[in-house]
Amino acid sequence: MARVNVELKARDPDPEATAARCTALGALSGGELHQTDTYFMARTGRLKLREGSGGGELIAYSRPDDVAATESMYVRAPVAAVDPVVEALDSTLGTTVVVSKRRQLFLWEGVRIHLDEVDELGSFIEFEAVLPDAGDLATARAKVDRLRRELGIEDDALVSAGYADLLMDGPEALLRAASAAMANAYAPYSEFKVGAAVRGRSGAIYAGANVENVAYPQGQCAEASALGALVAAGETAITAVAVVAEKLEHCPPCGGCRQRLSEFGGGDTPVYLGRPGTEPLTVTLGELLPGPFDPEALQR
Ligand code: THU
Repeated sequence: MARVNVELKARDPDPEATAARCTALGALSGGELHQTDTYFMARTGRLKLREGSGGGELIAYSRPDDVAATESMYVRAPVAAVDPVVEALDSTLGTTVVVSKRRQLFLWEGVRIHLDEVDELGSFIEFEAVLPDAGDLATARAKVDRLRRELGIEDDALVSAGYADLLMDGPEALLRAASAAMANAYAPYSEFKVGAAVRGRSGAIYAGANVENVAYPQGQCAEASALGALVAAGETAITAVAVVAEKLEHCPPCGGCRQRLSEFGGGDTPVYLGRPGTEPLTVTLGELLPGPFDPEALQR
């Protein structure tokens, strides 16, 4: 694959006007393609199956924000039968996010212009200036700057995260992780299965389920299990939480778990209560537990 040297991504409120401007600038149309990337819950790194017009490909790589990764890993394997492979990985690992996009491609002086319509995210424009097609580095940068000016892309439209990360920043990936954990809940006494997921500061998601015991007080809530996984992976800060229950649409964390979550999150940390595929009820940790017992209390 060619090396991409200069990239830029921005939100595009009016893709039709942008397409017309690209044509006016003399950009050639490279056609349209549909691409679906399914991301699975890998224990380390990222694992996705890409499905496009050229067939399927399984791609494993290190997370860019994986602080523990010492060398970057990138493995690509062609996949002939996409559907059963997605089914096998989804049923064993679980799916975190699906990025589905329609891409209109333009080529201008060695710069690839992507007009992307991404499900659940909206429309974006991307420039990829590939060396040496776009010239040397300085020339490629100048071309991207010129395109940016000609297409009127403002600073506040620029986006640095990838589509998967933008989708995962929302509640859906956390709700899915919580839901997958809930399927394995051990709740033979209450028959009330709960799953929880927390996002660590690194961006990684940790999930857990409730684990009951015949000696009832020994049971553990899903939130406590998820926090155990967070700590075991070496993280101690959370940026979002999701809780899913089989028999309750919006399962509020119990009082003890509100305190547990407050240990690692802040008052404005969002807590999503609901199910994957539906708009969750969003509350903050501060709303759930005003005035938590915090480390400052020990200083007195
Ligand atoms: N449960 C949780 O896992 N999290 C909560 O926040 C509420 C309650 C579990 C504990 C027990 O296994 C079952 O739900 C019924 O109380």
